[in-house]
Amino acid sequence: MKIEWKADDAAGIEHRCMVVLATKDGDLINGPEAVAEQAKAFGESGELGKSFGGSVYVTDPKGVEAQRLLIFNVGEKLEKDNDLRRATARAWKALRGKGIQEILFSLDGLEGDDAVRAAVEGFILGDYQFTELKSEKDKLPGKLETLTLHDTRDYRDKVARWQKIARGTERARDLCQMPANHLYPESLAEKVLAWSEECGYKASVLTEEECRKAGMGAMISVAQGSDRDGRFIITEYEPEQPSGKTVVLVGKAVTFDSGGLSLKPGANMPEMKGDMGGGATVIGTMSVLRDAGCPHRVIGLVPAVENMPSAKATRPSDVVTSLSGLTVEINNTDAEGRLIMADALTYAKRYNPDFVVDFATLTGACLVALGPYVCAVMGNHQPLVDGILEAGQSVYENFWQLPLVDEYNEFLKSETADVSNISSTRWGGTITAGLFLQRFAGDFQWAHCDIAPGLYEKATDYHPSGGIGVGVRMNIEMLNSL
Ligand code: BES
Ligand code: ZN
Ligand code: ZN
Repeated sequence: MKIEWKADDAAGIEHRCMVVLATKDGDLINGPEAVAEQAKAFGESGELGKSFGGSVYVTDPKGVEAQRLLIFNVGEKLEKDNDLRRATARAWKALRGKGIQEILFSLDGLEGDDAVRAAVEGFILGDYQFTELKSEKDKLPGKLETLTLHDTRDYRDKVARWQKIARGTERARDLCQMPANHLYPESLAEKVLAWSEECGYKASVLTEEECRKAGMGAMISVAQGSDRDGRFIITEYEPEQPSGKTVVLVGKAVTFDSGGLSLKPGANMPEMKGDMGGGATVIGTMSVLRDAGCPHRVIGLVPAVENMPSAKATRPSDVVTSLSGLTVEINNTDAEGRLIMADALTYAKRYNPDFVVDFATLTGACLVALGPYVCAVMGNHQPLVDGILEAGQSVYENFWQLPLVDEYNEFLKSETADVSNISSTRWGGTITAGLFLQRFAGDFQWAHCDIAPGLYEKATDYHPSGGIGVGVRMNIEMLNSL
């Protein structure tokens, strides 16, 4: 999507289609005074609809040079900046069925960076489609080719930066959408290597055999059941003027989670192509650090495996030795994410990090606890957790802190090994998974994000169904605040 800029009077700009937002009563939120009267009239007549999502499409509108005008109803009033993200995404979706591929949108009337960012991101993120595997591309809904922003305050550089960051979210989404016969550990690693130059990071990859030799017994125990070889993907970003701080990001990439011998029920299994969402968040983030001007050295570690049942698969009750030396009794092969994350966290030690943050679609229990739109964060260093909560809020990627309740460590006891990979109780599954990881986070200043809620069953205003790429935009803000 191309973004163009105009600073002269918005009403006088010749264009295919202008979009303005208004309350349900027709009070204009952005855009030129020249359309205020029309918006008000449609509000009063009821044609704008009673609530968020209603709209009026005006052909040959009065007072403006644009050929078409879409007035979009944001409801009673704008409750929060994110309503702008939802509104512009939906406004665009209302237009793309009409053969329109260019929009004129005025930033005048929007107050503050967060509001402007939300409005622009709505167009960008709302335009997302995963089309790689469709053969008849001309039958797909159109793309938003050009967004012309009218602005009298010079938001150019900021918007350009936000657009580049959104590219990281798109990359993460693409990885999640890609089915597991196309995206598996080896092909994921190849993609990450291929992107490295364009995105400004260095990348290297350990093969499954190299992981085994290195002692990553926990990761290998998951990888061994699959005919697809596992990979350990390492990415490194060095800023031009380093702050001196090193941050390690770790992301779970189970390219397909069948559950292994503790096989999942069939109904929701297709979703599990997105079980590499944590890895996608990390790779998406790494891919935009240079564009975002991240001041810290950042290492992205992505253990990538496929979790399958087979004659070579780990048996429930098997005991393996992790890279840290801790022995783990694997009582449920479907609790595989924590196993690969454990070894990756141990691996992070060699970078002597100031902070470690991990991302994983780790537990179904997280959806039970927080519902579909809020991810969980836990950690041993409150300022880091606070940084994630605040950064998330600023871009409306919502995280909520759960406690790492010390007493629950009791539930992870194993008769035969140092620790069990599942809890002896069904309650608090997100917390006990976090506590398992804490054993491997050692003395890092560490936070763990359970992003299982980042896999959507249904598309929403500016999110696709499947992996939404949650955490990329948050990460950039969080890194900036460290
Ligand atoms: N990948 C799943 C968690 C998941 C479930 C993510 C639904 C997104 C949506 C994870 O590997 C898993 O299967 N966890 C088990 C853990 C249990 C066996 C302790 C779960 O949540 O049921
Ligand atoms: Zn699982
Ligand atoms: Zn999983």
